[in-house]
This record gives sequence, C-alpha cells and structure tokens, in this order.
Amino acid sequence: MAEQKDKIFSAYSEKVMDHFTHPRNCGEIPDASGIGNVGNAVCGDIMRMYIKVENNIIVDAKFKTFGCAAALATSSMVTEMIKGKTVDEALKISNKAVAEALGGLPPIKMHCSVLAEHALRAALADYYKKIGKDPSTFEPKKESHEH
Ligand code: FES
Repeated sequence: MAEQKDKIFSAYSEKVMDHFTHPRNCGEIPDASGIGNVGNAVCGDIMRMYIKVENNIIVDAKFKTFGCAAALATSSMVTEMIKGKTVDEALKISNKAVAEALGGLPPIKMHCSVLAEHALRAALADYYKKIGKDPSTFEPKKESHEH
C-alpha cells in the first residue's frame, strides 16, 4: 500500500508536495484591494484570491482553494510570486511560470495552474474596477475555466 502511495505521489515534484502539504498564504485578507473568484466547471474545484495593493505594489496576497493538490500548490506558489511585485509585473505571470516555479506539473494537471493564473487575474480585475480602471484586456472569461 505504501509503495502504491509513493508511486502516485511521484508524479509531483518535491516543491509541489511541499506547497500542497504546507501551503503558504492560505487564508483571507479582510480589507483586500481585490478579490478573485474562479472555478473549473469540469472538476468543480474553486479558488478565491485576495490581494492587498499599496502604491501599485502587491503588499499581501492570500488564497482559499477547495481543490486538488496541483490547485492548492499553484495557489500557494502564485501568492508567493506576486508579493512585492507591481500590478503590471503580476499581470505578466503565466500559469506556465507558476508551474515552472513548482518544478513542473504532470501534463494532465497543467489546467490546475490555469485556475491559479485566472484567480490572480480576477483579483487584479476586481482591483482595477475598484480604482476605476478597465480590466477588460486581462479579465478571465467565466466560461474559460475548463479542462
Ligand atoms: S483537478 Fe480541478 S483544478 Fe486540479
């Protein structure tokens, strides 16, 4: 049984396992500057991302994810990656960059990293709306969260 378990986990890098078992920045920001909610219609996983922006810098980021190991690990990693970055820099972070930072994801789990990218973009879009800017160039479409 233990052997079987190891085989299953071997599909994931050590970093994915680390972020899955010890997620960074899990929680919420009560006075968030932006909140992004996304879900994958196929697997049913959902992700909520909170960002706090001060002087155009993301000073804090947190998430709540009800999903698979890859969804949790990518949420954790993306919140680490955006802290201290400007809004424009955060917008350049792709799901591939998040997966690479985690040492890669199995191809079948790459869509989970898309959820993290979209949660970030949705949070940034929410922030844009709050400050009166148009987020239409990067705001994720609702129907795009599929496998
Ligand atoms: S299986 Fe749904 S996001 Fe990973």
